[in-house]
Amino acid sequence: MPVDIKKKIDNLRQQINFHAHRYYELDDPLIADSEYDQLFQELLQLEDLHPELITPDSPTQRVGGRPLSEFKTVRHTQPMLSLENAFNEKELLEFEDRLKRFLKSENTLSYMAEPKLDGLAVELVYENGMFVTGSTRGDGRVGEEITQNLKTIRSIPLRLTASEDLQPPEMLEVRGEAYLTLAGFKALNEQRLAAEETIFANPRNAAAGSLRLDSRITAQRPLEFFAYGVGDTGQTPCSSQNELLDYLRKSGFRINPLTKFCRDITEVLEHFKHLHEVRATLPYDIDGMVVKVNSFELQQRLGRKARSPRWAIAAKFAATQATTILQRVEFQVGRTGAITPVAILEPVNIGGVMVSRATLHNEGEIKRKGVMAGDHVLVQRAGDVIPEIVKPVVEQRDGSEKTIQMPEYCPVCRHHLIMPEGEAITRCPNSHCPAQRLRLLIHYTSKAGMDIEGLGKKAMEQLFNEKLVQDIPDIYELKVTDLAALEGWAEKSARNAVAAIKTSRETSLSKLLSGLGIRYVGEEVAGLLDEYFEGSLEKLMQATEKELLDIEGIGPQTAQSIREYFHDPEVKKMVSRLMGFGFTFIPASKSPAETPFAGLIFLFTGSLVSMSRDEAKVRIKERGGKVASQVSKKVTHVVVGDKPGSKFKKARELGLKILTEKNFTDLLTGADAQQINRQLSMF
Ligand code: IVH
Repeated sequence: MPVDIKKKIDNLRQQINFHAHRYYELDDPLIADSEYDQLFQELLQLEDLHPELITPDSPTQRVGGRPLSEFKTVRHTQPMLSLENAFNEKELLEFEDRLKRFLKSENTLSYMAEPKLDGLAVELVYENGMFVTGSTRGDGRVGEEITQNLKTIRSIPLRLTASEDLQPPEMLEVRGEAYLTLAGFKALNEQRLAAEETIFANPRNAAAGSLRLDSRITAQRPLEFFAYGVGDTGQTPCSSQNELLDYLRKSGFRINPLTKFCRDITEVLEHFKHLHEVRATLPYDIDGMVVKVNSFELQQRLGRKARSPRWAIAAKFAATQATTILQRVEFQVGRTGAITPVAILEPVNIGGVMVSRATLHNEGEIKRKGVMAGDHVLVQRAGDVIPEIVKPVVEQRDGSEKTIQMPEYCPVCRHHLIMPEGEAITRCPNSHCPAQRLRLLIHYTSKAGMDIEGLGKKAMEQLFNEKLVQDIPDIYELKVTDLAALEGWAEKSARNAVAAIKTSRETSLSKLLSGLGIRYVGEEVAGLLDEYFEGSLEKLMQATEKELLDIEGIGPQTAQSIREYFHDPEVKKMVSRLMGFGFTFIPASKSPAETPFAGLIFLFTGSLVSMSRDEAKVRIKERGGKVASQVSKKVTHVVVGDKPGSKFKKARELGLKILTEKNFTDLLTGADAQQINRQLSMF
């Protein structure tokens, strides 16, 4: 191999990377576009002649090329969590109160306040500094592999910047938001309009859509990326979010310039006002601000709930509102039979999104708000929440408005509707109602469920109407020839859909449960069940109501609903047919090495000094132990704090093992050390 060719190639890559950085990241190019193109062409030609010299981090590898429409799944080593919301100042202050209570500390807390970008959360895995795998958030545990697509985004480094005092770790999982600028969004929709294609409702959808295409198309979409975190902070030398963002910046990532270190919550509130003021001038859409406790040590102590960390919150901007005319009301049958009145509106632009429907929730809401058909109404839209009617503009009535009546019979199956006692919701009690069936099927394949590519709402309606799919298991019997014969389908799209159906069988129990549409079982509860039953559907199906109630976060209503669901003979038949298609569940459960407290039951009496009782409970549960509230022989350890109550006496009478607070904290750290030892000995 002629050494000078390799040198020449290296040199070209360096130049291109340098100028790309000036152009894309600093927005300050030093050479003309044509000169840049020339360098790029030269590199392409040399690589064409010497394909053995192409490296995965060459700038030419950003153009995409894999003609793929089916994506593999990737398991995130650390779950990608979502955030709880605060809708006003008071809720932000309450967030801080909760933190202080949990930490049992009055010390001032410092935070990082970051704009909340409205795009798509992605994870980028770097091995020894090289970008190897990129994925979507998916359900938080398992996402879709979109490496090629992400490589087309210029602000994602293919290789981490390294220097003497900055060596990339063996593995780094960088997280951030992929998004479209408003200008990019506008241009894309204009293009689509011209091509008579459906337009995207907002930049978020456009970004998500653009990342799940053939990467050659992705390459033409003006996507950008801001980094805001990593999977495991232990992979970095940082001890706070502030340091981490600096570290990521030095490693080659773009960090949002409106990110601010706040010494206390007052500064957080000030920054929120500032972001609200500059929002309209930004080249991209933000829907609020993310507030994170700065110190990693405190973040770790605070830990997380099922779906969101305790140490962060999303402060949302107030909803945007507009007035329009409520033309008429449609009654929609939900997948559990709930009848929802939906207002059909004269289309109106609310904060950049065209809205033509809004929910009226239920009969009680219509009465409470006093809305009538034909009214001028105030409509609001908050983030990705379904738009809703705030109130009628009574002053604009002319007498032609009509009262809105709830129907007596199901608009689809004509069954008599009921309103169960104590509920505000009118329901169609017929579980065979075609509307309910169809809704369930749409939900099952949707993002909130199994997320099967190619089987969106329209496709499911078509498959249902053509009688190809009547029940969930029917989906798994679809053949390429069935689909290809339908209007609007081709051999290729049929093949892709069938392949996506096939791959969807490798999933998590939580995803399947979310998809089944059991009442009160959303993503969060599904995650709890998955964890508790260690990814076993059989165990869940056999669980008694009492056992379900043992799971923290599951209340009586939910437990009853789950039990009733799996007791239903029709459900049993359906599930057994479904499982016949061969599902594998990637478990969410922890290994024995991660649960040193398995089998232990703790009881607390008296107050602790070093942490709150909530924190102590979390520490135990994290390690696989349980916490009891009553003294019994089952209790294995009684932790006695300051001023213990009568439980202490009872515990002594029963001869239970008694621990001081110090014994308890030693046990926690001892278990952690043991755990580390065990993990080390695995290598
Ligand atoms: S942190 C552990 N930081 O908001 C905390 N998220 O509900 C989870 N988002 O889809 C993420 N800007 O993609 C974080 N500066 C930021 C963010 C941010 C936008 C999105 C994120 C996720 C959602 C969390």
